Amino acid sequence: MAKVTFRSPLHKDRTIEAVAGSHKQTILQLAKENHIPIDFGCQNGECGTCLVKVTSMDQSKPMGGPLNPSETQVLKEMGKITQEEIDQMLIDDLPPSPWRLACQMILRDEEVLIEYPSR
Ligand code: FES
Repeated sequence: MAKVTFRSPLHKDRTIEAVAGSHKQTILQLAKENHIPIDFGCQNGECGTCLVKVTSMDQSKPMGGPLNPSETQVLKEMGKITQEEIDQMLIDDLPPSPWRLACQMILRDEEVLIEYPSR
């Protein structure tokens, strides 16, 4: 069971327990299903609109699926990860930074805090 808390400056925290392990559901899909107002555009890992900050709440590193090539490229263009971090990610098989694209991050069985900007 995944436990995901969504936080933004303009909204109350919302914690949602979700079935993990489908290897399909993204953070953005979970947010949309629960009326969490995360901004999004392409939903394809290309525009960067759905940028969120992910923090593990169970004292371990954020697990989430590793970054795919599209997410990696967008985060690099946005200055959220460096080439060194990308290289390290390929060795560790772990996300290199707390910054993720909600439309690309696959939910896993973990407890995470998702911080997103609000308008
Ligand atoms: S909505 Fe465009 S990158 Fe996520």
